[in-house]
Amino acid sequence: MLANKTIVLGITGSLAAYKAANIASKLTQAGARVEVVMTESATKFITPLTLGSITSRLVVTNLFELTPEFNVPHIALAEAADVVVIAPATASVIAKLAAGISDDMLTCTVLATKAPIIIAPAMSANMFQNPITQDNLAKLNARGFIIVGSAYGRLASGKIGLGRLAEIEKIIGTINQVLGRSSDLAGKRIVVTAGGTQEPIDPVRHIGNRSSGKMGYAMAEAARDRGAEVKLITAPTSLPEPAGVNITHIETATQMKKAVAEATAQADTLIMAAAVADYQPKSIAKAKIKKKTPTLTLELVRTPDILTEVKGDFIRVGFAAESEDVVANARQKLEKKKLDLIVANDITDKDSGFGVDTNKVTIISRDGKVESLPLLTKREVADKILDRVVELLAKR
Ligand code: C5P
Repeated sequence: MLANKTIVLGITGSLAAYKAANIASKLTQAGARVEVVMTESATKFITPLTLGSITSRLVVTNLFELTPEFNVPHIALAEAADVVVIAPATASVIAKLAAGISDDMLTCTVLATKAPIIIAPAMSANMFQNPITQDNLAKLNARGFIIVGSAYGRLASGKIGLGRLAEIEKIIGTINQVLGRSSDLAGKRIVVTAGGTQEPIDPVRHIGNRSSGKMGYAMAEAARDRGAEVKLITAPTSLPEPAGVNITHIETATQMKKAVAEATAQADTLIMAAAVADYQPKSIAKAKIKKKTPTLTLELVRTPDILTEVKGDFIRVGFAAESEDVVANARQKLEKKKLDLIVANDITDKDSGFGVDTNKVTIISRDGKVESLPLLTKREVADKILDRVVELLAKR
């Protein structure tokens, strides 16, 4: 989504300005053209040379200086921008924008642009929580500005509180989401499940599996970046929460089924990337089971099959982790669970399946089409699956 997009990155005078270098670097590496605009005070925290070197673009700081490329820079940048991001945004720039003051390059660009504007505040907790700042943010929000954060954590003062710049991943996720708004899944409601469910045995133990959740999270992010309204229902994972996605945390298969039923009541597509436990303990011990006996027998009962049992008229995509007869077994599953697509992967392949960032899958559709993909990143696999979902949605 970021490739070939023009992103105006506004940097203002907060200590967190140094983090903007990381944002600029990630956006540039993803193929975006990053035009950095710095306020006078931002240049006291980080130099234009740093940002210019990262982006290979001339950094603009002065409203009254013509650049070789743009003869009226703020208008040219305002028009060229696919999105304007101010990170970090101080209380001062937020107040100026709320009042329509345009007395420097950055505020002029913001006032002149028709592109979406993302603001990531960073300041002391007192400044952030001051009703003046909150009113200004609410005013900008009501005018369509997208506010990211701020986060709770350690501040420059050494105090812990609100006011910290949102995590870089969250800011970049929001940029992706905003840029994807008019993409091929715009307005579609997609429910994605991820991770391995955990079935409790007693208050401290559970039966789990090796799913990392990476495939499901990649699916959710890819759908978000293509404009979908995404609900991610996730079992516990160690992955950061994707920005711009509605997240429900669950632990067990039964909880996942309930969450899926609720979320799909208004959905166009369900993508079941979660590794759902097939069995759960028949009863959960109320107290921690003591190791008194040499052996312990657990009685297990089947969990609900979510894909089969959840009712509704939406596209259903399942996954089949197989270790033998991959395509034949996946096909059977597609029939049995009445799926539109099934994504089969061979879990005996070390680059594919659990825990890794890559996957080698075969996508099988109801009409019999079989598409074997090469080894790809999970994000690339997600986009291939979504290409097929887009085709199916168009036929409905
Ligand atoms: O039958 P199997 O577990 O191999 O099927 C895998 C597919 O079915 C996956 O998409 C998985 O998320 C889904 N599933 C389910 N409910 C279960 C078990 C698996 O929806 N109880």
